[in-house]
Amino acid sequence: MTRTLTLLAVSALAIAASGLHAAEEISMDDPNIAAAYEEDGRYFTDDGVPTFNIAEDGTVDWPTFSGFRRYHAECHVCHGPDGEGSTYAPALKKSAVTLDYYDFVDVVTNGRKKVGAAENSVMPAFGTNPNVMCYLDDIYTYLKAHGSGAIDRGRPAKKERKSDVFAENENACMGS
Ligand code: HEC
Repeated sequence: MTRTLTLLAVSALAIAASGLHAAEEISMDDPNIAAAYEEDGRYFTDDGVPTFNIAEDGTVDWPTFSGFRRYHAECHVCHGPDGEGSTYAPALKKSAVTLDYYDFVDVVTNGRKKVGAAENSVMPAFGTNPNVMCYLDDIYTYLKAHGSGAIDRGRPAKKERKSDVFAENENACMGS
């Protein structure tokens, strides 16, 4: 009994400490996060990596909203609602902040398999699935917005409208 309580207390401390750590580390001025320019409704960092843009009244850019929907259609069964992670797969809200964008894209396109003595977990390859590939930047953008703390859990209430160029690209990608 005493032992269980001690363990619980230790893990509670560990969680609190990692929470503090994350809050300290993520700044909206981080070059991997700060939006430097916008093109047809999508925002990019200085390095041309997709990122989010949240207005002061909480209005989210269209890709962040689209990514929220696509994430919950394709990824949340394994990675948990709101990218919070599950016992089976890692918390993607963290991955979107810590993983390099190109590594993120690579894992989703080609999949990944970790086989160990205690676990056997598989990230499927989505490279031929248009419902994922046509929205991959949206999903990444949404997860980065949530993982950096710019938006809370749940469906964003206010969003920018979808730009015409965005709608055209989407139709071309989905082949409709
Ligand atoms: C069938 C379950 C499943 C689905 C569906 C799934 N994943 Fe995964 N994913 C996993 C598992 C398991 C891992 C961990 C693989 C490993 O240990 O290497 C993983 C790992 C990842 C990683 C690497 C995370 C890191 O921090 O290294 C990314 C990125 C990722 N998934 C993105 C996605 C996205 C985006 C979607 C939706 C389009 C998705 N996954 C859907 C099971 C899934």
